Amino acid sequence: MRITVLTGAGISAESGLATFRASDGLWENHRIEDVATPEAFARDPALVHQFYNMRRANAAAAQPNAAHHALARLARHHDLVLVTQNVDDLHERAGSPEVIHMHGALDRARCAACGHGWPAPAVMLPDDPCPACAAPATRPDIVWFGEIPRHMERIWQALEESDLFAAIGTSGNVYPAAGFAQHAGRHGVECVELNLENSVNALDFDRRILGPASRTVPAWVEELVGG
Ligand code: OAD
Repeated sequence: MRITVLTGAGISAESGLATFRASDGLWENHRIEDVATPEAFARDPALVHQFYNMRRANAAAAQPNAAHHALARLARHHDLVLVTQNVDDLHERAGSPEVIHMHGALDRARCAACGHGWPAPAVMLPDDPCPACAAPATRPDIVWFGEIPRHMERIWQALEESDLFAAIGTSGNVYPAAGFAQHAGRHGVECVELNLENSVNALDFDRRILGPASRTVPAWVEELVGG
């Protein structure tokens, strides 16, 4: 079966990584939208680096949970395209063979001047020079609000060609990911949502499985590969 899965912050919540909208959506009194934008980086690069340095350290200390492991198992049995909005590497560390990071990755750095990319050091600072062009323009390789998510052509095509689409642990607030179920549904693809609570676009799904991902995702994968 051809399956496309989209994951969001909820799948990593039980690994100890905070979701964006569960609490008050603040980081040290800054709205997330005020640190995750190109404008914020231009205004206060040290603050933005501090935010991502902290998230990089948290992700490095976290372990994949049963939901990440279950999706790695799913890939061994079905033709799976795994798309994530998450910038952590917990899918990779659970053994998923290929992960499409539509919002970038914490463990990568990029030069805002020449576009060169390289593995991010644990701590990034505003004056770090680019290893290729030496410009002091190092930024996290993250897609910020107002920037274009990655690999979209491949994702739209995978959605259209799937037999099944599942969204796991995402609130449905941020487009284009929030529009995937509607797009897949228009192409006759069955859509299922696995989330702690109904997402804002819950009505776009044919089926909803509510509960913590570490419990619901392994059970759903068992349905698809077992027996
Ligand atoms: P959100 O924080 O908006 O939503 C997380 C969702 O996971 C919520 O619907 C929760 O109910 C659900 N959830 C929480 N704990 C869960 C658990 N244990 N099991 C299952 N579900 C659980 O995160 P995203 O939807 O991923 O973008 O956010 C989308 C994007 O907005 C992010 O990629 C980021 C953010 O701003 C950028 O930075 C560009």
